[in-house]
Amino acid sequence: MAKTQEHLIGLLLGAEGDWPRAFETLAGRLGVLTGPDGANHRVTTERVSIEPFNLRDKPRHDLVIDRLAYWYYHPREWLKKVALMDDVYLLNSPFTFQSMEKHSAYCALLRLGMHVPDTVLVPYKNPVDNVRWAYTSERYNKPFDLEEIAEQLGYPLFMKPFDGGGWRGVSQVKNAQDLRSAYDDSGEMLMHLQASVADFEVFARALTIGPETMVMKFQPDEPMHNRYAVEHGFLSEGVGTEAVTIAQTVNAFFRWEFNSCEMLVKDGVVYPIDYANACPDVAVTSLHYYFPWAMKALLKWSVFCVATGRKARTQVDTDPWFRVADDEGLDYGGKLAAYQGLADSHFDTDRYREFCDAALPHIDEMVLEWVDSDDFRDLLTETIRATYPQHEWDKFEGHFGGLTRMWVSDETSRLGRGRSAVDETVVSGPAPAVVAD
Ligand SMILES: Nc1ncnc2c1ncn2[C@@H]1O[C@H](COP(=O)(O)OP(=O)(O)O)[C@@H](O)[C@H]1O
Ligand SMILES: [Mg+2]
Repeated sequence: MAKTQEHLIGLLLGAEGDWPRAFETLAGRLGVLTGPDGANHRVTTERVSIEPFNLRDKPRHDLVIDRLAYWYYHPREWLKKVALMDDVYLLNSPFTFQSMEKHSAYCALLRLGMHVPDTVLVPYKNPVDNVRWAYTSERYNKPFDLEEIAEQLGYPLFMKPFDGGGWRGVSQVKNAQDLRSAYDDSGEMLMHLQASVADFEVFARALTIGPETMVMKFQPDEPMHNRYAVEHGFLSEGVGTEAVTIAQTVNAFFRWEFNSCEMLVKDGVVYPIDYANACPDVAVTSLHYYFPWAMKALLKWSVFCVATGRKARTQVDTDPWFRVADDEGLDYGGKLAAYQGLADSHFDTDRYREFCDAALPHIDEMVLEWVDSDDFRDLLTETIRATYPQHEWDKFEGHFGGLTRMWVSDETSRLGRGRSAVDETVVSGPAPAVVAD
């Protein structure tokens, strides 16, 4: 019998406990897989520790899922080393972090012809801490009229850091007075002013892992546990497909593997506003109903990458994208179709599907069985207890327990198993969510 190839997946983690445990449990249950070529594979996981490393050290990992390096330089440099020297596959690669700054992402999508709201980058409010600044500023800083820029964009507008995330430093500016105080408060943060997409109909948030995208209805004004609405069919088919293409285009263009993309939809137009997240939220207490999907996608994509020896590419190759972008013979729809083709080819989507069919035929059942087990319920309870104060434990047990049971019920029907009377309402209810798989 062919020898089983062993693959180690490293998890580089910050404070998260829930999804890593889910991922480790599911990876542990996979057992030996047989790929389409007949080769056998087994994946194991290990949490990566932070320690001195010699640049000549050989890592044991084939792939690392990183949730830390955006903030900490030591693990970031280790990731760069293992990518450059040892071909370790990274979700995500620090070489993309520059483009993780909103600004580059806005620029790229604008050139690709997407409907990014009108955006202006203004100089720092406060001088940067550099002895040469006074000279430079006196010589080259051109005075500008902030209010005039704002009036051209129109109120209300958004002021937000060029490299932001997690709503840090974001404010809605309704008038000239708000504008002044928001700019004064920005201090040493470099700010964009961006026209609002006012009265949008839908806030769509697409989580993409490899070639898998789930577009979810997002409710930004709700508390965290309620932001993802479990609502299916909330986008027309055309808009749903466009949202998937935009999300996958962003990732394939920048060589991101694991990212979330926020889009506002108004009058049938999709406006991407935020799509550079080095570390997208996948907590069970945010994603609830969608958490099993996220874990499954992360597992499938990681296993595909290690078992097929997928080569990571550290640098962005803008040429094929800009050839489409600059093609005057193509309208927006034609460009979207071409971008989807480039994204499919970047992610090797056909080969990925073929691999999943051959090597992971039972993954849906396996994940369903786990989410319907005491092990998952314990994970949920422990996460709730670690996340919320005691007086809210029961409320959240009910909330998240109900939503994950609803997923179990929907998934049971989807997989064609027997349904109970309780399932009926769910089964006959919503159409499938927009899922690219
Ligand atoms: N152009 C815009 N039009 C309408 N709402 C916006 C716009 N830009 C940002 N927002 C609102 O502000 C929130 C935070 O802005 P975002 O760009 O997503 O920053 P962050 O990277 O910090 O999440 C968004 O989720 C959205 O609710
Ligand atoms: Mg955002």
